[in-house]
Amino acid sequence: MSAQLMAAAAARFADWRGAAPAGTVFAPGRVNLIGEHVDYNDGLVLPMPIAAGTAIAWAPRSDGRVHVLAADFGETDEFALAAPDRPATPAWPSYVRGMAASLIAVLPGLAGADIVITGNLPQGAGVSSSASLCVAVGRALLAASDAALPAVQLAQAAQRAEHDYAGVACGIMDQMAVAAGLPGHAMLLDCRSLTFSQHPLPPDWRVMLIDSGIRRGLVDGEYNLRRAQCEAAAKAIGVSTLRDAVSAQLAAVTQNSAEYRRAAHVVAEIARVQAAAAALDRGDLPAMAAILRAGHASLRDLFDVSLPAIDRLVDQVDAQLGSAGAARLTGAGFGGSIVAVMPRGHETQLADTICQPMVTLW
Ligand code: GLA
Repeated sequence: MSAQLMAAAAARFADWRGAAPAGTVFAPGRVNLIGEHVDYNDGLVLPMPIAAGTAIAWAPRSDGRVHVLAADFGETDEFALAAPDRPATPAWPSYVRGMAASLIAVLPGLAGADIVITGNLPQGAGVSSSASLCVAVGRALLAASDAALPAVQLAQAAQRAEHDYAGVACGIMDQMAVAAGLPGHAMLLDCRSLTFSQHPLPPDWRVMLIDSGIRRGLVDGEYNLRRAQCEAAAKAIGVSTLRDAVSAQLAAVTQNSAEYRRAAHVVAEIARVQAAAAALDRGDLPAMAAILRAGHASLRDLFDVSLPAIDRLVDQVDAQLGSAGAARLTGAGFGGSIVAVMPRGHETQLADTICQPMVTLW
């Protein structure tokens, strides 16, 4: 899929510039198996890259400028690499310019480039289209200057781009999964140390992505609010982040307040990630299914990022799979996609009963 997308980007580049690009790059999207809203609490997460993503065709420029064609929108942008202005309204140029600004802060010698972007990740569907875009832009700008950056630094630059240019105080999970994920592997990432290990998915498991069709709207404020509530809970407990909290300490937070419920989710979710990685390593699907079910309930009841329509979809999939597998909301929430894990062979029956679009990830 990435080869096709890169070929499409190259063809659009040739149309636009009248010459073939110097090269193409790709960055995938990601799905998170478990570990939701814990990355900005320094916790552990278990995402995996997916086949869909963002492709960019590039050629170097010698005038220090970046000319961009967003092929899927038929829109262009142009800016000086040394000082990309922050667009007033967040839209795709915010990510491109934000990534350029983050990179130039680390590598001031970068030259300009012509870039053509195309992708096949739905936006607001919980599969990290923005992190994929930022990492792809980073790869293209680096390639155009014959420069390189380790994956962790590339991910950190992409995260800064979102913070500074899109106004979302996101964690680092998406960028790390996109920059360093391995196809067919779940990545157990420690969001504090940024160390990770890759865990192959068992051959007899199936991982399906089911799109609820509900697009996340203007909820960046809700996301930033969740983050602030977690930070307030950590402060009440007296730890620097909730990663360092244990459930006995939750008593320090006002019982049943939003802060309490957010913290209760985070503490239990980090433990679930550890248990899920162990279940994956032993190929224990019933254990994994139980963890996913508990994870969804916690997002619904404690973190308040699910929606009734998403809960119904998860319930429908769970009912279909019985104890053999399970589904949960993946990504930031407020719409988007659910991820379902099941034994190989169950997906056909599932596709017969669930009407939403489904993609086999593994
Ligand atoms: C979004 C953010 C991530 C993470 C998830 C929730 O995808 O970009 O950093 O917080 O939400 O787990």
